[in-house]
Amino acid sequence: MNNFTFYNPTRIIFGKGTETRVGIETAKYSKRVLLVYGGGSIRKSGLYDKVTASLKEHGILFMELSGVVPNPRVSLVREGIRLCRENKLDFILAVGGGSVIDTAKGIAIGVPYQGDVWDFYDGKAQIKESLPVGVILTIPAAGSESSTSSVLTNEDGWYKKGTGSDLMRPKFAILNPELTYTLPPYQTACGAADIMAHVMERYFTNTQDVDFTDRLCEATLKTIIANVPLAIAEPDNYAARAEVMWAGTIAHNDLLGTGRDQDWASHKIEHELSAIYDVAHGAGLAVVFPAWMKYVYKHNIQRFVQFAVRVWDVDQGFANPERTALAGIERLKEFFRRIGLPVTLEELGVRDDRYEEMADKCTMGDTFEIGGLVKLKKKDVIEIYKLARA
Ligand code: NZQ
Ligand code: ZN
Repeated sequence: MNNFTFYNPTRIIFGKGTETRVGIETAKYSKRVLLVYGGGSIRKSGLYDKVTASLKEHGILFMELSGVVPNPRVSLVREGIRLCRENKLDFILAVGGGSVIDTAKGIAIGVPYQGDVWDFYDGKAQIKESLPVGVILTIPAAGSESSTSSVLTNEDGWYKKGTGSDLMRPKFAILNPELTYTLPPYQTACGAADIMAHVMERYFTNTQDVDFTDRLCEATLKTIIANVPLAIAEPDNYAARAEVMWAGTIAHNDLLGTGRDQDWASHKIEHELSAIYDVAHGAGLAVVFPAWMKYVYKHNIQRFVQFAVRVWDVDQGFANPERTALAGIERLKEFFRRIGLPVTLEELGVRDDRYEEMADKCTMGDTFEIGGLVKLKKKDVIEIYKLARA
């Protein structure tokens, strides 16, 4: 196990009806708030009315920034920064999913910074300061509610990039599984793929003696595998929604990554897909992850055998570990299919082949290798896109 520091100060407020606590929690930090949300699901579900009532009840002045889209754009973040500066707002409240939270985080780091906020995402500036952010989560998926990162898309060139800092962890995250009843099945499934990907990016490591976190990873994956089909079949099954929601936060608050090297190649490869084709991040991962696995499994076959046996209950074929490893990858694909996700680029609707361009972007013109389990160059990334094709 590697040395590590683990610090996650996000206060998690979990359970039925907890969204009504938003006024009390926000008032601990500020009375001048920017409320950020997406395309309208929170108005349709009635959550907007509850949130604004709670803020008013606690004497909080708020302005609104709506219209965050999936694969959120830096232009809206710039708009939020302007609103905060002009109106002296010093707390950002995100009500929604990863896209809304990442927009809120971008605004929070952008307000105190003199330059353009994209500098942080482009690696040109380090985050030294952030306004506080609070969250009401409406979709278990990205894990941004207690993660250190924010991922944005720059329309100028269609780059999708992330930035990170401990300063960006939200102050609180309200998680009420009831708020996820309105999720369409496809969004529930995309969320599941993202949650699983966050676990697998950490699970597939060459670091030795990480048995405890291996088993936490396996338990998290099994929880998703058992509960997501239930949540899709019965959208208001509280027990299933609650398991998925808590697993989604744990998957990405970095507890599971403690003491080990991590991979993250699949995320980088996927981000290029959602940047150019505007596909849902989770759906892109359902396509990329199995292809990445097929490309790299021979480098650490034992780990892929462990994944197959412990997560998917594949019989351990001692005489043929390769067959066992491949059966695990196949079960993952079958699961994605079963919950209605695409598993090939064709099914994702990506029919042209801008592989060269995407591989170039994610390896910064082949100057940068991606991945921890196996270091990948541009040519490897192209091969992975090809493996994912059909
Ligand atoms: O905009 P509205 O109307 O709210 O609709 C959203 C959106 O269309 C809808 N939705 C959310 N909650 C709902 C709901 N519809 C009905 N009922 C509800 N309760 O779902 C759609 C997707 O929302 P989005 O926020 O885009 O989903 P997600 O949470 O999957 O976030 C994806 C983004 O997060 C980034 C991804 O790259 C992607 O841009 N990520 C952020 C990470 C981080 N900051 O730590 C890590 C991840 O790996 C990921 O990269
Ligand atoms: Zn992700």
